[in-house]
Amino acid sequence: MRYQFLVVTRDGPVERVTLNRPDVRNAFNAEMLAELTSWAENFPRTSDGVRAVVIGGAGKAFCAGADASWLKKVAQNSEADNFTDATATSRMFRALDELPVPVIGRVQGAAIGGGAGLVAVCDIVVASEDAVFGFTEVKLGIIPAVISPFVIAKIGVSAARELFLTGARFPAARAYKMDLVHAVVPDAELDETIDRYVAEILAGGPQAIAAAKTLVREIAAAKDAAEATRLTATALAKRRASEEGQEGLRAFLEKRKPGWTK
Ligand code: COA
Repeated sequence: MRYQFLVVTRDGPVERVTLNRPDVRNAFNAEMLAELTSWAENFPRTSDGVRAVVIGGAGKAFCAGADASWLKKVAQNSEADNFTDATATSRMFRALDELPVPVIGRVQGAAIGGGAGLVAVCDIVVASEDAVFGFTEVKLGIIPAVISPFVIAKIGVSAARELFLTGARFPAARAYKMDLVHAVVPDAELDETIDRYVAEILAGGPQAIAAAKTLVREIAAAKDAAEATRLTATALAKRRASEEGQEGLRAFLEKRKPGWTK
């Protein structure tokens, strides 16, 4: 599929998705949101060999959040239209959050508003030392609403209260402390750091990694201990009985690499 505002490339087992509106620091307009939703919702659920996704931004910034001109335009619409619009944006973040393979965020420059929300739906985030983050919506008189479930799951309630209410920008070092990002490196080392993460991912069982991702999401949302027990026991039993689980164990005992690493 061809996109206007995304560049999607395949590099062996890695699919790279680059937001491509560098002149406006990759701000989201309606078309880019629709393209990202379509890309995520059509991502193959069964393996076509993609083992990891890297999301990044073209040019100087990762993503400057919602495009101000687009926000201005939709602000003229009715509350009902804005509800429909916000629901569609929420659907995009949800689809990205639930991708069945590890998603690595490559953050150079700024990740503001929805851009910081995009960071929150990545499983692993590598940021350059000079990256800047912010949930700055209140500075525009709006709120970081659709991204909030994903952001609060990452940074917790206390940091969200501080950062959503002040709208203050913060450096990569602070994002690291809150586990919004997992590695902070000089700009020149972004790609090699991501390559090391990819190598780790390729050494794990693909179905086990997908199941681990689902497990984290389900356990975080489990309503009580009984549900958590049921979910964990079901997931583990399924993995143990799986061909991949058996191959992993056999390979370990036979002191060889598992078949999926070939
Ligand atoms: N929507 C529309 N245009 C945007 C934009 C946005 N969210 N963010 C940046 N741009 C545009 C600027 O207007 C500017 O356009 P121009 O060249 O026609 O003047 C261009 O992108 C470059 O922006 P600039 O601020 O000069 O780049 P920078 O590299 O110095 O700073 C940012 C990058 C992202 C830190 C800064 O642009 C910024 O803070 N943007 C606003 C972020 C924001 O408030 N987002 C909304 C959250 S809800």
